[in-house]
Amino acid sequence: MPAVVLVGAQWGDEGKGKATDLLGDRVDYVVKFNGGNNAGHTVVIGDEKYALHLLPSGILSSGVTPVIANGVVVDIDVLFEELDALDARGVDTSRLLVSSGAHVIASYHRTVDKVTERFLGKRRIGTTGRGIGPAYADKINRVGIRVADLFDPKILREKVEGALDQKNHLLVKVYNRRAVEVDEVVDELLAHAERLQPMVADTGLALNRALDAGDTVLFEGGQATMLDVDHGTYPFVTSSNATAGGAVTGSGVGPTRIDSIIGVIKAYTTRVGEGPFPTELFDANGEYLLKTGGEYGVTTGRARRCGWYDAVIARYSARVNGLTDLVVTKLDVLTGLEKVPVCVAYDVDGTRYDEMPDDQSAFHHATPIYEEFPGWWEDISGCRTIEELPANARSYLEALEELSGCRISAVGVGPRRDEIIPIHDLVHPRA
Ligand code: GDP
Ligand code: IMO
Ligand code: MG
Repeated sequence: MPAVVLVGAQWGDEGKGKATDLLGDRVDYVVKFNGGNNAGHTVVIGDEKYALHLLPSGILSSGVTPVIANGVVVDIDVLFEELDALDARGVDTSRLLVSSGAHVIASYHRTVDKVTERFLGKRRIGTTGRGIGPAYADKINRVGIRVADLFDPKILREKVEGALDQKNHLLVKVYNRRAVEVDEVVDELLAHAERLQPMVADTGLALNRALDAGDTVLFEGGQATMLDVDHGTYPFVTSSNATAGGAVTGSGVGPTRIDSIIGVIKAYTTRVGEGPFPTELFDANGEYLLKTGGEYGVTTGRARRCGWYDAVIARYSARVNGLTDLVVTKLDVLTGLEKVPVCVAYDVDGTRYDEMPDDQSAFHHATPIYEEFPGWWEDISGCRTIEELPANARSYLEALEELSGCRISAVGVGPRRDEIIPIHDLVHPRA
């Protein structure tokens, strides 16, 4: 019955994969509604480690129907590679549904992603190079290829011609690259059609019917609030709506059906790629978070930029997503610090900001105003209740809760599936 949305509350890599996995045996459907294989989720089950990109993390729970909904951009080669790798490890992927309305990432999207980044030079976004932005740009420009187009060769050819018409001028005349052949792209896409067809469905209809039938549906966001194309640190964002609203437009399930919205947030902050990051650390503390937190990207292997917890961002995320619950992850990484600073507001050229500045320049100039909390030294990875945590760790969590204005419903104390402190039930019908 409940429809639960789970989103990242910072700049990604908060541990959404682990949080989704945690809910795995409680849900019937797990839906990816935005982004594509720019995402990287690590899920640790026992001694097994899984890295997922395009597939929703819920695919690891037996009995769950994973769904790639209309809001996703699908690189079909990557889809099959991921399915094959999971099949080889004995994970049942046979239930996967792929929306006929999802857009396809073709080879020219990857090419355009890489050449535009190169041409942007100092102004580059630091994308994952997976063709995400160009695929979404084609969608908005109404020259995208959708999954359903793969099953009508005549239409597919017309659409590929339309997509390449301007792009080839750009590639040849501006970027000095060779033109992309229509035939090459059509053949590449058609080669996937037969294997893909049995997975393709009207996923919006399937999900609404599932909710009517009383099933529980979890919408798993890729990326995060601060990478959202509307609400993030534009232009240093991804090209989709990673906030809770994206779950609605990206799936065909109406907003009145959503019961709760979980924001996953690290006990500190990380960011991959370019763009402003007020609490970023360039000292030994930053190095400590990088090393202790194992902060290296799952998709590109890049070292993540690390900084202290930013409560202005947490409050902003709670607001733009309408969060009902927070899942705080990686509290264990902070163990062993004498003091744990939290950014409670920004100073922008002498003016205090308690809320996110609404213009880009102000955010670029924001310097954090910190409040310091006393640290703890005890190993907390074995704690399974809040009461077992050291008093200072509890006070830290209480401060995060108060500053964000959203209740904390679970706390991660290690990467493994069982290394979590449950506080409130995360699957609950609307109050
Ligand atoms: P996602 O993209 O939001 O799914 O997050 P990633 O998987 O990219 O990054 C989160 C990383 O933190 C993964 O390596 C997880 O295994 C790990 N992780 C998640 N929760 C915890 C936690 O509570 N403690 C620790 N130490 N690691 C965690
Ligand atoms: P998960 O789901 C962290 C970042 C890239 C870049 C910007 C745009 O694992 O949290 P794109 O390739 O999407 O056009 O890149 O967004 N980015 C992520 N950062 N976690 C992610 O996903 C990300 N997906 C994209 O580094 O700055
Ligand atoms: Mg990630």
